[in-house]
Amino acid sequence: MSESAEITATHGLSNLLCEGLDSPRCIDTPIPRFSWRLASEQRGCRQSAYQFRVVASGGGANANQKPIEYPLIQSDQSQWVSVPGLRLDPKTRYEWQVRVWDSNGRDRGWSPKAFFETGLLGAEWQADWISDGREVRKKTAPPARFFRKKFRLDEPPCRATLFLSAFGVVEPWLNGRRVTDDLFLPGWPDYRKRNFYVSYDVTELARGGENVVGLVLGDGWYSGTLFLDHQYDATPKVSAWLEIVDTRGRTRIVSTDETWKWAQGPIVANGIYFGETYDARREDENWSTSDSNSWNWQGVVVEPKVEVPLDARHSQPVRRIEEIVPVSVTQVGPGVFLYDLGQNMVGWVRLKVRAESGREIRLRFAEMRDADGMVFTRNLREAEASACYIANGQGTEIWEPCFTFFGFRYVEVSGTDDPLEDAITGVVIHSDLPRTGHFECSNPLINQLYSNTLWGQKGNFLELPTDCPQRDERLGWTGDAQVFCNTAHYNLSSGPFFRQWMAAVRDSFEEGKNGGYGSVAPFIGFDRGAAGWGDAGVIVPWVTWLHTGDRMILEENFEAVKRYVALLESEAPDGIRISKEGWGDWLAPGHAPKEAPTPYVLIATAYYAYSVQLAQRMAGILGASDIVGQYGDLQAKIRSAFQKEFIEGDGKIASDEQTAYLLALGFDLVSAELRPGMVRYLERAMARKNNHLATGFLGTPLLAPVLSEIGRTDLAYSVVLKETYPGWLFSVKNGATTIWERWDSWTPENGFNAGGMNSFNHYAYGSIVSWFYDTVAGLKLDESYPGWKRFSVAPFPGGGLTYVKASVETPYGLAVSDWRIVDERFELAVTIPPNSQARISIPAPTIKSVTESGALLANLKEASHLEEVDERIEFDLVSGSYHFTVAGFQS
Ligand code: BGC
Repeated sequence: MSESAEITATHGLSNLLCEGLDSPRCIDTPIPRFSWRLASEQRGCRQSAYQFRVVASGGGANANQKPIEYPLIQSDQSQWVSVPGLRLDPKTRYEWQVRVWDSNGRDRGWSPKAFFETGLLGAEWQADWISDGREVRKKTAPPARFFRKKFRLDEPPCRATLFLSAFGVVEPWLNGRRVTDDLFLPGWPDYRKRNFYVSYDVTELARGGENVVGLVLGDGWYSGTLFLDHQYDATPKVSAWLEIVDTRGRTRIVSTDETWKWAQGPIVANGIYFGETYDARREDENWSTSDSNSWNWQGVVVEPKVEVPLDARHSQPVRRIEEIVPVSVTQVGPGVFLYDLGQNMVGWVRLKVRAESGREIRLRFAEMRDADGMVFTRNLREAEASACYIANGQGTEIWEPCFTFFGFRYVEVSGTDDPLEDAITGVVIHSDLPRTGHFECSNPLINQLYSNTLWGQKGNFLELPTDCPQRDERLGWTGDAQVFCNTAHYNLSSGPFFRQWMAAVRDSFEEGKNGGYGSVAPFIGFDRGAAGWGDAGVIVPWVTWLHTGDRMILEENFEAVKRYVALLESEAPDGIRISKEGWGDWLAPGHAPKEAPTPYVLIATAYYAYSVQLAQRMAGILGASDIVGQYGDLQAKIRSAFQKEFIEGDGKIASDEQTAYLLALGFDLVSAELRPGMVRYLERAMARKNNHLATGFLGTPLLAPVLSEIGRTDLAYSVVLKETYPGWLFSVKNGATTIWERWDSWTPENGFNAGGMNSFNHYAYGSIVSWFYDTVAGLKLDESYPGWKRFSVAPFPGGGLTYVKASVETPYGLAVSDWRIVDERFELAVTIPPNSQARISIPAPTIKSVTESGALLANLKEASHLEEVDERIEFDLVSGSYHFTVAGFQS
């Protein structure tokens, strides 16, 4: 294509991703996969062919390279596409473009340029591990360590890259500037089995002459004391090198070694659960420039070589994402002020003060206020969760911590009599995942519940999926993550996030009697193999595959899945899984933890069947046909054992309560003959509770989907809309801005739940939100076409809602379902992104009653396979935007 044609081409190609990420560094697979989106207003737009062009760039030896154009491939695949014949060098920057032809054979031209950088691709780690030689005693919060090294460059580099890893969390600096806004680097792996590394382009920060590279090291999850007094090791350590390429293509390495120095800076205490203390009198803003010597710089200790592998980190880092201005401030005592941010959030605050040198400004963080209006901190348990800033007395001082985070809505500030007007700003931090979904409807309480779930996800998607962000826990509880995973993908683009966390889940796996996947990952203790928790090892990859179409998440996990199935089989030779205790239907209302009414053996057997069912489907996709048959037989065996053991002749289950029926129906464990009977028992169990839910962590996510599945979406609406205890809107009515851990974390009658375990930001019950998307709005995945290549738009109006607006940024582009009821008309606006298609299902009495933009649906040429099914009209539809109207609609 000529240069001028390239400029005039309306390519309409966007979202150019490599391994699911925008412009990633550290691509450490020799065969990366690329994805893009096609934009088009035109209905039925599909891709018919594509072509790649790739070039190594970044100057030095790669200056003036000519792009290689790869052969044109006839295919509509635009997600996770590899480039046959592409050969990559380590530590190299590449630019890539794709050119696409649409279904009319029209050449869309080359896309804009996107880039990626390779990681080590097997090349050696080039730096020693260094520490300050101190040991962190458990349950203490020591100072952070500052490391630095001076070096000279004859000329400004042509290219400079920083490679970085740490046992601890690190903030890199170069010549007095922070290298990146990324936080908590390099993340939280299962340190026993692996660590991560990251890399940054620092060409702009390096210069000719004297340079100083600096690293600030916090205890993080490594040397800080976690729950159960867990500490990986007492000495945090760091390793890094700068790889500097000059204009003649020569490479120089500046790496951590015995010549580095360390000093104690202003961060005099740090810890994830503890918080941070910053003594601004010790501040030296030139610590990482050439000329500062105000601290006592000492020789470092070179630590032994690290045995575990270092993997390139491949999910988005934690960053500052948004800011919140407090809605009110109240003086609650002499020199004590309480700020209300109006939203339970996770991160920290930016403090702005004017105070004399040495004045201590103390901050305490809390999710709730007690009856006296003071911060309620009992539910933080052993997490100190406070911060202290010691002023240096020089004008207006501004500070944010960096090696801790808090879950809070309220901040108590003491130590200043007259706080500045903008003394406190909430800084929300979380893994920087792009937003995918939006949902809004005519019921403000449902909208608040949706918002609470989204905030729960933001607050608990901080490096990995955690149970809660505030107390002395904040762990990767696997059960919580698996029940929330489907909702998570709808809200935020979570593919790389889960893929990375799955490494920790696999690392938690152990064979043997008490084996299985951990209840928490990274594993720091607790048990393994708990039903509904350990099964995350199978469920999370599966759900992630459905949402993203990223086959790698199946490939990477399938070996462990097979071992898991084998372990389950050995524990349950006759199909009934009775082996060990677990968490059960955790926190079902009205029951003490672990005392929920659903028998654990029933839960364990149901999850066993479900895991094997998913494992069988994975095997099918990965082409392991022998295993498909084997797992099919195994699943049939468990299913019939389940039926014999738990289901009576009329479909009843002995415990006769919601969760048991939901598991049996939701995991397809009931025979066709007994299904109607069991449905009636479930309806009875619901009615006994006056159509309130009676479910805990495992029953709740199945509740609305199963009720819809049995044709009782009306009942699902009525459960969801209950404003009284126990139900989702109970907490909303009581002012919640996030999802509570317990259905009764707080009640008007009893106040705070008496249990110490009482988080106000636990996303598990937010799992209802996937039903908002896939049933209320009707944007539902088609499991045969993962990654939204094909999906359905099948809204089920009800619950008195008069409108719903929902959208999902699918890999192919925006999918929309907007419906409203006006007089006796049902209006549905649908968008299907280019290169995908959908099955539409509209509630309508007849085909004749449906029009699209004023013309009869029957004449719509983009629709095919039109059918009337159960008072709904169904048809296939190609991409584009449409507006349907159903006349004579009865709500
Ligand atoms: C956590 C949970 C977790 C549970 C295990 C709690 O302490 O916060 O959310 O799943 O323990 O049952």
